Amino acid sequence: MLEHLWYKNAVIYSLDLESFKDGNNDGVGDFEGLIERLDYLHALGVDTIWLAPFQPTPNKDNGYDISDYYGVDPRHGSSGDFVNFMHKARGLGIRVIIDLVVNHTSDQHLWFKEARASKDNPKRNWYVWSDHKPSNWNKGMVFPGVQKATWTKDPKTGSYYFHRFYDHMPDLNTDNPEVRDEILKIIGFWLQLGVSGFRMDAVPFVLESPKPDVDSTTLHYGYLKELRRFLQWRKGDAILLGEANVLPEETVNYFGEAGDGIHLMFNFFVNQHLFYALASTEIEPLQKALEATREINPTSQWAHFLRNHDELDLGRLTEEQRQRVFQEFGPEKNMQIYDRGIRRRLASMLGNRQQIELAYSLMFTLPGTPVIRYGDEIGMGDDLSLKEREAVRTPMQWSSEGQAGFSDSDKEVKPVISEGIYSYKQVNVKDQKRDPNSLFNWMAFMIRLRKECPEIGFGSWEIIPVKPKGILVMRYEFKEEILVFVHNFTAKGEELVLTTRQAKTQRLIDLINKVESIADEDGRHTIILNAYGYRWFRGGE
Ligand code: NOJ
Repeated sequence: MLEHLWYKNAVIYSLDLESFKDGNNDGVGDFEGLIERLDYLHALGVDTIWLAPFQPTPNKDNGYDISDYYGVDPRHGSSGDFVNFMHKARGLGIRVIIDLVVNHTSDQHLWFKEARASKDNPKRNWYVWSDHKPSNWNKGMVFPGVQKATWTKDPKTGSYYFHRFYDHMPDLNTDNPEVRDEILKIIGFWLQLGVSGFRMDAVPFVLESPKPDVDSTTLHYGYLKELRRFLQWRKGDAILLGEANVLPEETVNYFGEAGDGIHLMFNFFVNQHLFYALASTEIEPLQKALEATREINPTSQWAHFLRNHDELDLGRLTEEQRQRVFQEFGPEKNMQIYDRGIRRRLASMLGNRQQIELAYSLMFTLPGTPVIRYGDEIGMGDDLSLKEREAVRTPMQWSSEGQAGFSDSDKEVKPVISEGIYSYKQVNVKDQKRDPNSLFNWMAFMIRLRKECPEIGFGSWEIIPVKPKGILVMRYEFKEEILVFVHNFTAKGEELVLTTRQAKTQRLIDLINKVESIADEDGRHTIILNAYGYRWFRGGE
């Protein structure tokens, strides 16, 4: 029955309305624009859209600072436009998941305005306060170098409020039952409007109970079960996809031992080791990361990604490994951020088509659900002149026309990339659609292929050890179907021998090229790999 779980083989596409497509030409992306582009996403082959926050916001953290959970920010349209969008997406068989950002609100949220008004305001305990300056006021910042504190004095009452992120995003007090009820209401509201689930923001921080002067608090994992229970009462197949960059041994707390916690989690651990493998050609740490995150309940699932809307976080690597990735993919100080990451897009980091294909081919074959970041399907670059993570959030490049075909407005709200090899004149959807060899067409092909390989999402897997260095071989099995994937991380071609004992199949049918390998008399398959080459095989007798 596992194959009834839609999220196990979904192909998720993440986008931010603001920078996707401007439909009403005021310079800001909106639902009208996204509706126009749904056919594009359908043609690309994605079946699930993850929408970044689109609710009313002062927009000081890319919309992750919400000031009303029950609406649509007027810059992006109206609630009516949202429902229109949901209707068309459903017609195309595309599911929608949205961000659930409940660790904090914007300081412009009415709840916080009330909470800060006086100590006896009914909303006071919706947030986390201290009457004295906590000794740990400048500990535990998520954005070091940019954020100065986690406890900030509020002038009105003279107390300090807690904020895990920026000081304009006060943390909600999730220990308060009223807050918990409200969070369920938010979940129920959007489910009723048709979403298939939530990408849950900052999960570990939602679970903590911050106290003044106390550096670390215990996390209340049971809360995730509570959320899931409610979610499933309302909509049986809705999911929670957690953002939690945690160590492998901690993940069971999030998934729940019985698979009764959150359904999916981004695999940050594998992501970081994958970039290390790309940078160094040393694949052993990646293999270990895959093994370390292997044991999860059969109904739970990893989400694999290459890049997202934040920095490439390398905080889980050793110092030496991190420096190696910096050296290869982000050597300049301006490319690095928060002492741990790189604020660049995939294409500009890797710089060549072969390695981009290798990285995506690998992502599609990792045990889990792939998540693609808008613009990466055409190889968009970044704008390092923008502050912090804005560098990787420039408007989608639709064509070589003014403002990249993103908007017809004269007003440029978000600057498009107009210089250099990643400019919209060089990199855009319209040109790539017409070019059979483009990255876009390659990506659409690979998505289709991934959909034809549901064994990846459902099956069991093993890593087959091979002699040549820098080559990862993974084998999947599900209901007597066998898949074998080979990825060469090195810049040199290689000939690889796989025995029938290892592959557990006599024939290897190449799913990308029209070749088939039948094992020789000694039971050996000889596999030719180009520099950064990748091969997908289906077994057969
Ligand atoms: C994680 C989000 O991915 C990031 O963009 C945001 O700044 C923080 N959470 C705070 O919401």
